[in-house]
Amino acid sequence: MRIDIISVVPDLLKSPFEASILKRAVDKGIVEIHLHNLRDYATDNYKSIDDYQFGGGAGMVMMVGPIDRCISDLKSQRDYDEVIYMTPDGKTLNQSIANELSLKGNIIILCGHYKGVDQRVRDHFITREISIGDYVLSGGELGAAVLCDAVIRLIPGVLGNETSALTDSFQDNLLAPPVYTRPAKYNDWEVPEVLLSGNFPKIEAWREEEAYKRTKKLRPDLLGE
Ligand code: ADE
Repeated sequence: MRIDIISVVPDLLKSPFEASILKRAVDKGIVEIHLHNLRDYATDNYKSIDDYQFGGGAGMVMMVGPIDRCISDLKSQRDYDEVIYMTPDGKTLNQSIANELSLKGNIIILCGHYKGVDQRVRDHFITREISIGDYVLSGGELGAAVLCDAVIRLIPGVLGNETSALTDSFQDNLLAPPVYTRPAKYNDWEVPEVLLSGNFPKIEAWREEEAYKRTKKLRPDLLGE
């Protein structure tokens, strides 16, 4: 998978790909991340990428010209499956969107700033608009980092243990069950006996039951309740 991220502060997006699982995915060649500074596509001496809103009002708007030049340049080099715009009024990111995007080949992610982009960008270039939650960030970069993490970890070969993404919370619209590690007894806090039993069908049944109980208690909405 190749992800091209367009931003006015591309430096904000460097560190998420320089550690841990995302770094491993990059190092293994499973994913390529390319950061693009939108100012490189400005045409004036000030490297302007935004301007005042027509009709008045506080806040600047990202201009269509630099974004058009950047996206068109990328599209002239290869085909893209999606051009995603990170914005608080997009569809809220969930596991099913992450699953779907993890199957794509090439993706462009455009990070919004200020009052957002000129509507014509959304009308003519964007295939999908994604929010990471009902709150407003200073820009789309941190949202793009969250999206990339959620998507990249699902690509086969990225996680060491192939089955672990499948047992994550939300994969079956259920939260994950409780997990424990050594020691089996800490102070007088004990690990549920079934997990030490070696009886794997019983352990699986216990996990399913606990996942259901936890979901019912913490996120009944996932069960349609
Ligand atoms: N840009 C600003 N706020 C955002 C959000 N909540 N999600 C995605 N991009 C954003």
